Amino acid sequence: MAKLRLVHRCTECAASFPKWSGKCLACGAWNSLVEDVEGPEESLVTLAAGLALVPPGTATPIADVNSHESDPVSTGLGELDRVLGGGLVPGSVTLLGGEPGIGKSTLLLQLLAHTTGATLYVTAEESAQQVRLRADRLGALRSDLWLLPEMSLPNIISSIDTIAPSLVVIDSIQTVVDPELGSAPGSVVQVRGCAHRLVQEAKRRNISIVIVGHVTKEGGLAGPRVLEHVVDTVLSFEGERHHALRLLRAVKHRFGPTNELGLFEMTEQGLMGIPDASQLFLTDRRTGVPGSVVVPTIEGQRPVLVELQTLTNQVNSGVPARRSAQGIDQGRLSMLLAVLERRARISLVSQEVYASVVGGVKLGEPAADLGLCLALVSAISNTPLPADLVVMGEVGLAGEVRQVGHLGRRLTEAARLGFAQAIVPASAPKDIAKGIAGITLKRASTLNEALALAGLVGHPRQDD
Ligand code: TYD
Ligand code: MG
Repeated sequence: MAKLRLVHRCTECAASFPKWSGKCLACGAWNSLVEDVEGPEESLVTLAAGLALVPPGTATPIADVNSHESDPVSTGLGELDRVLGGGLVPGSVTLLGGEPGIGKSTLLLQLLAHTTGATLYVTAEESAQQVRLRADRLGALRSDLWLLPEMSLPNIISSIDTIAPSLVVIDSIQTVVDPELGSAPGSVVQVRGCAHRLVQEAKRRNISIVIVGHVTKEGGLAGPRVLEHVVDTVLSFEGERHHALRLLRAVKHRFGPTNELGLFEMTEQGLMGIPDASQLFLTDRRTGVPGSVVVPTIEGQRPVLVELQTLTNQVNSGVPARRSAQGIDQGRLSMLLAVLERRARISLVSQEVYASVVGGVKLGEPAADLGLCLALVSAISNTPLPADLVVMGEVGLAGEVRQVGHLGRRLTEAARLGFAQAIVPASAPKDIAKGIAGITLKRASTLNEALALAGLVGHPRQDD
């Protein structure tokens, strides 16, 4: 056994230092150094072990390379397939990150239960009994789903040899150890070393491996960031612990786009996919309330209707009024407040402003600008917007309403859910609503025109 020494390792770049300091001298990150141990030849051991596994490469003409080898295989879970762009790619490694208790183990047990052929669940955290109890509840008692309570990487690999599964789940990477690495479980060296080894195994056997990674309170994956570079796909599982809704996103995906959103509901029978997202987000909506608006947004490929709520409240002069934004960029909110003040002469200076998107969705696109402006004016004038209205448009600094993408898809979704009127940018293509039954378009070229169309002011005001 090599002699171990204590080092301080950067969780951002994995550089090690004999002494602790507040700033990593290698990459400049602050407060990123954690205690770790290392043996003198630790890196040589991993490197040698890794290289021995990889078959020698041969150069091939690019046109002769089989492009279908990386075709995804459906997981049987619709929402997971949506995020992965069709399914898991054989030979790939996927990291599933999320806070403890969010439902990672549940999702993966359901994934294993839906996969045909031999599959292996390595539980390095919970006992076999605990997993079996959960599998009972989820209806996942398949004869070719193998359960291995094990923390040691070499033992895990020999089980993969014996069972020859097409899919392996490692729950979690922070509790798996490779004794050769001579460092504590969950340390940077272990997490990175084990993940490297698993990637090599997946490629060599052309099987899919999904590894669970816990995230820290700040939202980053615990352990080294380098883990994200090692794997092919990084999924993030989010949601409020006390709400049933769960959101699945791809943070990194080597085989497809990263902008798809998967939606699940945590039930007594495990996670249920929610294909109709709009319906879900509008379930608890109360119509006729000032400050609320419905905006059609695009999540990846799919249009989703979400409710945006705002509240304004008069505060004593002299105190800076509070602005709070949830699911909306704070800077964008400030900008739109300034545009309202300068271009529509609606001042919210003496008002506290709260704006939030219902259901934990993040509205990152400027297409929601106009909706947010109308909701704010609706709140301050105590006038509800029409219940059957949807709003879309980007607002510029001159108070102009600018074009948004995928207008047709947004309108189709709004019509499907029974919305009858839509305020859209004046520049929207003429025949955009052709073939979409039951929805009337109202075109606005400026913020003031939009306010008038929404019934918030008697007549369009003049711009500055
Ligand atoms: P779990 O998958 O253990 O979370 P993680 O692996 O991310 O830590 O899920 C934990 C929570 O999910 C737990 O509080 C119980 C709840 N749950 C259900 O509501 N329904 C179910 O069918 C299952 C299996 C779990
Ligand atoms: Mg778990």
